[in-house]
Amino acid sequence: MKKLINVELKNGNYQVIIESNLLKNIEDYIDLSQRYFIVTDDNVAAYYLETLTSQLKNFDYIVLANGEAAKSFSNLQMILEKLLELNYERTDQIIALGGGVIGDIAGLAASLYMRGIAYINIPTSSLAQIDASVGGKVAIDLAGVKNVIGDFYNSSQVLIDPALTASLSKEHYQAGLVEALKIGLTSNSKLVSMLEADAEYNLIVNQAIRTKLSIVKEDEMDLGLRNILNFGHTFGHALEVKYNLIHGEAVFYGMYYDDISSDIKNILDKFKEKFDYKREFATDGLMDLMINDKKVSKDMCSLIKLDKVGAGTVARYPLAYLKEKL
Ligand SMILES: NC(=O)c1ccc[n+]([C@@H]2O[C@H](COP(=O)([O-])OP(=O)(O)OC[C@H]3O[C@@H](n4cnc5c(N)ncnc54)[C@H](O)[C@@H]3O)[C@@H](O)[C@H]2O)c1
Ligand SMILES: [Zn+2]
Repeated sequence: MKKLINVELKNGNYQVIIESNLLKNIEDYIDLSQRYFIVTDDNVAAYYLETLTSQLKNFDYIVLANGEAAKSFSNLQMILEKLLELNYERTDQIIALGGGVIGDIAGLAASLYMRGIAYINIPTSSLAQIDASVGGKVAIDLAGVKNVIGDFYNSSQVLIDPALTASLSKEHYQAGLVEALKIGLTSNSKLVSMLEADAEYNLIVNQAIRTKLSIVKEDEMDLGLRNILNFGHTFGHALEVKYNLIHGEAVFYGMYYDDISSDIKNILDKFKEKFDYKREFATDGLMDLMINDKKVSKDMCSLIKLDKVGAGTVARYPLAYLKEKL
């Protein structure tokens, strides 16, 4: 069943549509008289590029090698040069067809080209459908620091086709559910219950996005409340970089290192079993990586304080607190 969310923000309005098999009927959602530049990766292209291009009339595309390394300056430059070479104009649009990596780099390119052209996000991974595709954050990585070059730039439309996740690996599918768990634990107990009960995937996506948007609306520029969505991410990003873990799995382990109560720890332990996350890792070297992170300064850091499901807050701690936890 089609779900439509109208997003009204200070920085612009857009629509999020959630509907299975939407990609196969793209003409119902986008204007076919427009010129589109598609950004995708090799995995996603193999499954879905043809489904999209066979319906468009005027388009070009670029296929990046999949993985976090794609969020690079050189790829950003390559996209921008292609747009220029092919004479893309301000009224043309970018389509991001892929996971969070593609949404982030395509969105950043869209925000920069000619001071900003419209971009449509078609997220294909569970992580991107549940979390990354809404909220307007776009970025690339630099010198091993994640998302350090970026912007706030909303897409003109987010078109979510839950059926696309059928081709996703189990580990990536689950990694997306971790972001839903993050949103639920900090801000919406109903979402946690849905995850515990293995609710239908499209209902989880709908619930997660609505919850995230209600937080984003209060703090579009990420200056306060929105920081609670960083739950698990301070340690998670460091783990992700050091051990080359996939984002969602790293964030899961990272949640144990925020300031959580024993009740929350028990809930995490249950999900640990459910997701079959068993990794053990050494924590040396993580501190330096965290100091590079935007959330940690020289002597203080922001962590999430979470005593009760749905009631996360952001708090400042001396760095010594973090060191002790490690
Ligand atoms: N902008 C934001 O608000 C925000 C929020 C959370 C995460 N992120 C970013 O998102 C990225 C992680 O997202 P991700 O996990 O989607 O990573 P990803 O884009 O690398 O996708 C994961 C893997 O799944 C493959 N894939 C994607 N969709 C597929 C499909 N339908 N079928 C088969 N394979 C498919 C990709 O090729 C890739 O190998 C990180 O860079 C993170 O920083 C951004
Ligand atoms: Zn995340």
